[in-house]
Amino acid sequence: MAEFGVEVVDGFEPQAMALCNSDALLNSGEAVPFDVIYRGQTCLAFAIRYGDKVYAYLNRCSHVPMEMDYQPNRFFDLTGHWLICATHGATYSPQTGACQGGPCRGGLVKIETSERDGVVHWHTGPQMQPVNF
Ligand code: FES
Repeated sequence: MAEFGVEVVDGFEPQAMALCNSDALLNSGEAVPFDVIYRGQTCLAFAIRYGDKVYAYLNRCSHVPMEMDYQPNRFFDLTGHWLICATHGATYSPQTGACQGGPCRGGLVKIETSERDGVVHWHTGPQMQPVNF
């Protein structure tokens, strides 16, 4: 059964995975990292809060597929309005993951999220699965 009004696509039923308490994410603050399996590979991901809403993306720059944080869990630039890759300075929208400037080759891979009763969740997808320990 789909939770939180998540749409069922092509027979796939997304699941909402608990990630952290809501107060762990502050506007333009540090991210909460997590692991996912994306297209069969274990990948790092991160969740951030911007404009009171939570967003999550793979931690993988579209320029060169490498991690973007310049210090662990720090993705926002000094303005607090853009996500920035530490390697060559590509910038992305925190709301959509779209390229804003620099040497991006497309946008970030977005992960759906929701927030309910003080808990942040990320949502699985056909290509986005939890890591089983
Ligand atoms: S690897 Fe991110 S800007 Fe080059």
